[in-house]
Amino acid sequence: MLKIGNVVLEKGILLAPMAGVTDVGFREVCQMCGAEMCYTEMVSAKGLYYGSEKTEDLINFAPNTKYKAVQIFGNDSEIMSKVIASFGTKYDIIDINMGCPAPKIFNNKEGCYLMSEPELAEDIIRKCVQASKVPITVKFRLGVSQDTKNYIEFAKMCERAGASAITIHGRTRQDFYSGKVDLEAISEIVKAVSIPVIGNGDITDKESMQRMFATGCAGVMIGRGALGNPQIFSELIGVTPPLTRSQALGSHITRLKEYFSDDYINKYMRKHFLWYLHSLPNCKAIKAKIVTAPTLTEALNLALDALKGL
Ligand SMILES: Cc1cc2nc3c(=O)[nH]c(=O)nc-3n(C[C@H](O)[C@H](O)[C@H](O)COP(=O)(O)O)c2cc1C
Repeated sequence: MLKIGNVVLEKGILLAPMAGVTDVGFREVCQMCGAEMCYTEMVSAKGLYYGSEKTEDLINFAPNTKYKAVQIFGNDSEIMSKVIASFGTKYDIIDINMGCPAPKIFNNKEGCYLMSEPELAEDIIRKCVQASKVPITVKFRLGVSQDTKNYIEFAKMCERAGASAITIHGRTRQDFYSGKVDLEAISEIVKAVSIPVIGNGDITDKESMQRMFATGCAGVMIGRGALGNPQIFSELIGVTPPLTRSQALGSHITRLKEYFSDDYINKYMRKHFLWYLHSLPNCKAIKAKIVTAPTLTEALNLALDALKGL
C-alpha cells in the first residue's frame, strides 16, 4: 500500500507524468483500467502564474477522477510557491519535476538541472511545502551524469525539505532512456529515507513490475508501457480490462472533446492513434491515412476500423 497524506493507493500503481501524452482523456481511461493515480504532464509554474490558458488546459480532470495529481516544473521558488498556494485544496498531490532531461528544460535550469544545484532544489521544495495545503512529492533521476550521481543525498534532502514521497526514474540525465533502469540504486534510496519511494523505469509487464517492487519501493509508476495501452494497468493488477482498446480510444477522445476543438484533437491525437495501433501487423498504409486525415471523425473511424475486435 502507498499512503501519501490522505491519498491511499492499495496497490501503489501509478501512471507517470508524460508531456504531450497524459491528457485528461488518457488519464481517465488509465484510471478506468486500474491506474490508481495519474499525474498530469509537467506544467510550467510560470505559465500558470502568468495565467496562460494553454497551460491551464493541461491540468483539467475528468469529474470521476479519484485523486488529482498535478506536476509542475520551474526554478523560481517564489513563483512556484505562489502557484501552489493558489491551488488550495483543488488537487490532491502536487509533484515537482526535478528529473526532466530535455535540453529545452535543462538549459533553462529546470527539471533535472536542479539535481546539480541541490541547495536551490531544497529551497524550492521547502517553500512549496510551506505554501501547500496538500502533500508535495518530487520526481527525479539518479543524477545529471554517471559521474555525478547524487541520488542518496538528493533523496535525503527531499525528505528533510518536507516532501511526502519521491519518485525515482532509475537513470541519469546523461542516460536519457538508454541502458537499463538501475534497480539497485532504487533499493539504496528506499533504505536511505523514511518517506515512500515510487520506483519508475522500464515497467512493461507483471515481471518487470515485480522486479521494481523487489527494491522495497511502496509504489510503481508506468510511463511508456502505457502508450496506446491503458489496459496494461488491468494486466498489472490481474483483472480483465473493463474496456477494449477501441473503447479506450473512443472514451479518450470523447473526454478530450469537452475541452478542445476537433481540429486540435485531430492533430494532437496522431501519435496516440499510432500507439493504439502499435501491435497491428501490416498497417503502414492505414497509419499514413490516419495521420493525414482531414477531420477527427475520419481519423477516428479509420483507427476504430483497424482496431475492430480489439
Ligand atoms: C513522451 C514522454 C514524456 C514525458 N514527460 C514527462 C513529464 O512531463 N514529467 C516527468 O516527470 N517525466 C516525464 N517523462 C518521463 C516519464 O515520466 C518516466 O519517468 C520515464 O518514461 C521512465 O518510465 P518508463 O520506462 O515507464 O517510461 C516523459 C517520458 C516520455 C516518454
